[in-house]
Amino acid sequence: MTPTQATPSPAEVAFDWQHARKLPRQRATIGADADIFAGKSYWEQCEVERVKVARLTVMPRGARALPASFAVVAEPHWKPVKEAKAAIKLEWQQSREARFDLFFDLPEGVRCLGLGERYSGLDLRGAVHTLCTTDDTHHTESIDSTYKAFPFVILQDGNTCSAIFIDTSAPTRFDLDSELSEIGNIEIYSRRPFQVYVLGPASLANIISAYTHLTGRSQLPPRWALGHQQCRWSYPDEKTVRDVARKLRANKIPTDTIVLDIDYMDEYRVFTTSKQRFPNFARLIRDLADADFRTVTIVDPGVKQDAAFPIYSQGKKEAYFCTKSSGETFVEKVWPGLTVFPDFLQDRVRKWWGANLQFYTDRGVAGIWNDMNEPAFFGIKHMLEVDIDELPPDREHPLMHSSPEGRIGHLEVRNLYGSLMCRATYEGLQKHRPNQRQFILTRSASPGIQRYAAVWLGDNTSWYEHLRKSIPMLLNMGLSGVPFCGVDVGGFGADCLPELLIRWYETGIFYPFFRNHCWITGRAQEPYAYSDDVMDKVRRLIETRYRLLPYIAGLFWEHWRTGAPLMRPLSWHYGDDPIACEIDNQFMLGSDILVAPILERGQRRRAVYLPKGRWYRFEFGRDAASKGSGKASSKPSKGKKSSKSGSTSEPLFGSEPLTGGKVHILEMPLGAVPAFVREGAIIPMTDVMQSTNEYSRSPITFHVFGATAKGKFIDDDGASTDHLRGAYNEWMLAFANGKFRVEPMHSGYKSSARTVRYDHNGSTAQVKLPL
Ligand code: GLC
Repeated sequence: MTPTQATPSPAEVAFDWQHARKLPRQRATIGADADIFAGKSYWEQCEVERVKVARLTVMPRGARALPASFAVVAEPHWKPVKEAKAAIKLEWQQSREARFDLFFDLPEGVRCLGLGERYSGLDLRGAVHTLCTTDDTHHTESIDSTYKAFPFVILQDGNTCSAIFIDTSAPTRFDLDSELSEIGNIEIYSRRPFQVYVLGPASLANIISAYTHLTGRSQLPPRWALGHQQCRWSYPDEKTVRDVARKLRANKIPTDTIVLDIDYMDEYRVFTTSKQRFPNFARLIRDLADADFRTVTIVDPGVKQDAAFPIYSQGKKEAYFCTKSSGETFVEKVWPGLTVFPDFLQDRVRKWWGANLQFYTDRGVAGIWNDMNEPAFFGIKHMLEVDIDELPPDREHPLMHSSPEGRIGHLEVRNLYGSLMCRATYEGLQKHRPNQRQFILTRSASPGIQRYAAVWLGDNTSWYEHLRKSIPMLLNMGLSGVPFCGVDVGGFGADCLPELLIRWYETGIFYPFFRNHCWITGRAQEPYAYSDDVMDKVRRLIETRYRLLPYIAGLFWEHWRTGAPLMRPLSWHYGDDPIACEIDNQFMLGSDILVAPILERGQRRRAVYLPKGRWYRFEFGRDAASKGSGKASSKPSKGKKSSKSGSTSEPLFGSEPLTGGKVHILEMPLGAVPAFVREGAIIPMTDVMQSTNEYSRSPITFHVFGATAKGKFIDDDGASTDHLRGAYNEWMLAFANGKFRVEPMHSGYKSSARTVRYDHNGSTAQVKLPL
């Protein structure tokens, strides 16, 4: 967020770009007259993960070489072809000196998915989507550019999908049939060469598998990063941080991570801590670690312009910062006041940044949160002219970068800034902490970011609408190759009322990235900052998240092997079911859990569409929530003791499955887990724990759903990269004819001794895990 965005003056509103955008822009027409292309172009084809991929390379006149791709890391064997047999028939042309247009048919009924972070339902069709990384906090229907830019769109027609990916760092605009003419038009505002990939036809899963083969997949995150994270802008001093940690533990709210926002720094200088407010920073982090918390710190890209600040003076001396076209250092306002910006396009700058991160690793910081990396400037709201017709010449861009091809205008590469900052961070952390799984969180991102960082969707608000939108938005993030994603649980802006907090946790425990965060103003949002009753319900939900960690960790393995996201639209598994394809207020977490939460204030029941098959309801919390459980009353309970866990004796799942292929109207009391398990699944779960430090010793229960069922369990140390060298165990689980069977698939890790059992309809028995 930026101060100017928080309170726009009437004048600002009058000239706001949102209004300007509505002016008719120069639309391209297809045809020889409109095409001014005089460069070189060629098609190639290959197969990636059994999916046909055609690639068009466009080299404008005068271009010598393709710029190095950030996004694409695979080098399959490309075969030059005269005319590609692509899944989508593309027509293309150069319409202006710095603008290219692609056109393709978009027949009625074809859904459009992907494009990274879009403020939209799941289907992106019927709108224009500008992709130029922007810090715009007005997350409403009129927002266009967001923090992220993913020029990757999937066209879904039932079970058959195809996709277009533009490998460019330049701004693009995807018009997905906004005029109801059944035509798609992609505008690329660039002077540089670029490549267009057309994938398919294939299933949704195969398209993503091929796309993530090309752009890479997420490494396994450290286990602690899958736990509950607690943040606020900002915990202003050590005392407050210690207090938060103490209250989380005293109230038995399972939490792994405390996240420090900008106020830990000395006047927002990166790589510093405030001597007054955080006098014993390393000691604080050690004490938090003793209480089983990890600490994550925010690191913004902007460097305070201050001659006495060594990071600034060194960077200035070495010419590490972005400049204006005149050659002077580019300066803008951000949190530190006048600020300069490292040119992450340069290898030497990334190395320098990465080396400086030792400041954090030396003090025991476990992960880095890269924010404001679009980059956000308080003085420039929107980088891209709203009525842009082509990219302005380099010298007119407010800042410049140095690339191996020479000096380059910011807008050509802006979309990469956040991703390159994460690359610098990742490579730095790898050096300081080799053989460890890294955790980096970023706001700005572009294709390929999944190799370096998790993402969250920035400054949402404590509104039911933002809870609702989180589902399709995160689904599209996952379909854009980024599995580790979430939104601020409880909402960032405005006050989160108790009912919304509970409802948000009901959904949030299923986000791959699970963090409660809110802004500096207004009421506190930590679960203990509410009544005992609210806290009890939230605690029980977080406990459910922790119990599901073996299943969730398994889904990260699945992503790593196949590219599948954790959160999936129903059509991922039920693409032949037209109703399932339409739904975006429910989602699948992996193949076995369907989540259908309440997304409106005051509602106590909702329509849940269960696809074919039979589904077991999560019982957990339903009983307590509806009856008050005798422990926690439904009234705000002043001074009343909260139940502090101990809820493990409650049945976790209903014993009678619901029949799928239809809509069920179901009671959804506050605090109940809004999820269903597919018949035929075996879900590995642990016992309740306070942090993942307890994970390796915690008993494991394999919950069996149905008379015949299958599942999988993978165990590893959850922290190192030894799994890459085979240090993990994997077992196939099966239940049939009343017998539970375990088959080892891989043995390479010495698991800690712990109880392992299975549970079928409430009857349990011990299980031996053979190696
Ligand atoms: C930005 C971030 C937000 C953070 C704030 C202060 O608005 O999106 O999460 O709390 O800056 O650092």
